[in-house]
Amino acid sequence: MTHPGEARVHALVPAAGAGRRMGAALPKQYLSLRGRTLAEHTMARLLSLASIDRVVVAVAADDPWWPTLPPVSHRRVETVTGGDTRAESVRCGLEALLGVAGEHDWVLVHDMARPCVRLSDMERLLASAGEHGALLARPLTDTLKEADDQGFVLGTPDRRRIWRALTPQLFPVTALHRALVEALEAGAAITDEASAMERAGWRPRLVTGRADNIKVTEPADLPLAGFHLQQQEEEGLQWQDSG
Ligand code: CTP
Ligand code: MG
Repeated sequence: MTHPGEARVHALVPAAGAGRRMGAALPKQYLSLRGRTLAEHTMARLLSLASIDRVVVAVAADDPWWPTLPPVSHRRVETVTGGDTRAESVRCGLEALLGVAGEHDWVLVHDMARPCVRLSDMERLLASAGEHGALLARPLTDTLKEADDQGFVLGTPDRRRIWRALTPQLFPVTALHRALVEALEAGAAITDEASAMERAGWRPRLVTGRADNIKVTEPADLPLAGFHLQQQEEEGLQWQDSG
């Protein structure tokens, strides 16, 4: 297996969700913060990575918003139709990639709903992924409780061993496609790429990511993402299109 440092790397962005928990008039990836849609913030960050060969974006079949945004016509961006679940959307994107990717190519999967991801986090992920792939993640800060069906505490798991999985997640294209198809066919609950790979016996590396890489999910997340974008602007962070 090639190491991502030596391989060609593509990006895949699931963006076919409806944003039900956000409850806005349009899917959350098309809401605007600091003058640009979340989708544009996310795409600018991915397109600033010179090491990314192409960015495949999976959108809903009837999405009227994505085609109006500038990244659609970017040389390195390809649009595909996603599916009914995040995992199905990722599978659709992987199938488009299989047509063009070499057998040793890797893919960096990143939620469109995470517009605050830093270039430094993505670069660290690319640099530290071993042969089993890797994902950005955060150690827990709250104490965990395991509950019974009635809402009473059963126990307190050791939080030092529990992490929150973020994106991007980085895996070889063909191995991820195989693991995801097998998991979907088996009806397994797959909410990230690593869970499909773990099922296939892989041991992805956890790479500590920054806390500002939040997934915009509920209405309260929107001002928080706006705050992080502003903080990053004030730090002078910029995302130059790498061509
Ligand atoms: N996603 C996707 N295809 C789906 C569902 C989700 O590509 N059928 C994408 C979303 O667009 C988002 C990412 O997966 O970029 C993470 O999903 P989530 O935060 O759950 O977004 P939504 O599914 O849109 O939100 P909700 O679950 O509240 O409806
Ligand atoms: Mg969802």
